[in-house]
Amino acid sequence: MGCFCRASCYNYDTDGRAPVFQRVCKEVHAAKLSARTVAIRKPQAVRVKILSSRNLRLTSGERTILSKQTIHPAKTVAGGVAPPGDKSISHRYAMLAGIAEGTSELSNFALAADCHSTLRCMKALGAEVKVEKTLVRVTGRGLHGLKSSWRALDAGNSGTTIRLLSGILAGQSFTTKIAGDDSLNKRPMKRILTPLREMGAKITARDDNFAPLEICGGQLRGIHYEMPMASAQVKSAVLLAGLFAEGETAVTEPARTRDHTELALEEFGAPIERHGRTTGIRANGIKLTGRKAEVPGDLSSAVFFIAAASLFSDSTLHIQGVGLNPTRTAVLDVFARMGASLQMLSLRSAQGEIIGDIAVKGSQLKGGVIAGAEIPLVIDELPMLAALGPFTEEGIEIRDATELRVKESDRIAALAENLRRMGASVEERPDGLKVAGRIAGKLRGAEIEPHGDHRIAMAFAVAALGAEGSSTIRDAQCAGVSYPTFYEDLARVAEQ
Ligand code: S3P
Repeated sequence: MGCFCRASCYNYDTDGRAPVFQRVCKEVHAAKLSARTVAIRKPQAVRVKILSSRNLRLTSGERTILSKQTIHPAKTVAGGVAPPGDKSISHRYAMLAGIAEGTSELSNFALAADCHSTLRCMKALGAEVKVEKTLVRVTGRGLHGLKSSWRALDAGNSGTTIRLLSGILAGQSFTTKIAGDDSLNKRPMKRILTPLREMGAKITARDDNFAPLEICGGQLRGIHYEMPMASAQVKSAVLLAGLFAEGETAVTEPARTRDHTELALEEFGAPIERHGRTTGIRANGIKLTGRKAEVPGDLSSAVFFIAAASLFSDSTLHIQGVGLNPTRTAVLDVFARMGASLQMLSLRSAQGEIIGDIAVKGSQLKGGVIAGAEIPLVIDELPMLAALGPFTEEGIEIRDATELRVKESDRIAALAENLRRMGASVEERPDGLKVAGRIAGKLRGAEIEPHGDHRIAMAFAVAALGAEGSSTIRDAQCAGVSYPTFYEDLARVAEQ
């Protein structure tokens, strides 16, 4: 029997360790379940109050604008939380729905400001977009029906929007300008320009590397691209351009990265072939078809709650409806080897993605080293893991993560700065950082400067729960880039 998570679980290894996910997959196989929507185990009676995800999400539309957020130390973390829809998957469904034929109904669509940037771009390109809280209906224009936008597309803060959409825009018969906010306009784009130009697109960029981009689309040819870096965004840009190319387009990645694009392309009707780290698409004459799709909860957002619950020995937290795609769950392996108490429950699948609940109990975290091929698989969770360093026995060391310097902020510098503000002992390195463990003393409350970076703001809001004295997060609303209701959700489960 094939695994219901499709190719995702094959070939997945993190330097010989048994990933949490493989255990989950084994369990699913062992249970001989092939249904696409099936619970393999009932949640155990976890002593928590589980809030309905609907109730949690209803408040999301009323995004509170906060300039500063005060976080008081907590005694424990308890209850339930349902993180909003996955950001990466929402982007992909929105884009594919926009170039599909017919209407797609996307439920639990991310509240993230980034994904709403993607929706606005698709609308500007002619797709019909209707948003009702977290239910998004997109009526697509077909692969060749997008129209040119009279004004430049605005990708906001979103690297995924600009990089993935560039792949689609490269195949259009018109020219598009696309740019973002100050942070996005400083992030490197050469990584997508190189393969898209090789496929025949004409693209100009500021200093040949930065947005604004001007993409003059046209007839593309398939290429086999050996990616110099492990980046899901680059892989996705090339595969999406492959939808418009003659012949086969293939991408080989140096290390495994998230595979949501491959799964989503298949779901919308594109033929995808996967062999090890190579993914190919031969799109001659195909069309994509609109569909109903449910977006899993965002594991990268759930991680802030896993971390928060792990800080206090008597925490019990139930996290509902989280995406557990094996190319995303390496962070759970990191938590597991640090001694965190995690249990995955109620697994099911939707559109090739796995969804489940995570029960977390408090624990004493050991800490350790995160490096090598594991880095691309935990890239978005590294801020939270680093900020946990001072709460661990041995501290946390992150290596081989230079990429962190070109995210929404220079995350290595932002982490070092804010950890020091809280009194931690940190060694900043070009490719990572070493954060001393508990032995260096307890963190103290501080004023946190997130540098406009949502994950820095949220990581330090969690660290602040375990500090002595209150902390203030400046520019706290930047969390809305991925998680607009983060502070409300955190306040609901953190008990003072
Ligand atoms: C993403 C891929 C990752 C990640 C980003 C979202 C995606 O970036 O950091 O937040 O949705 O494909 P890279 O692929 O550039 O590493």
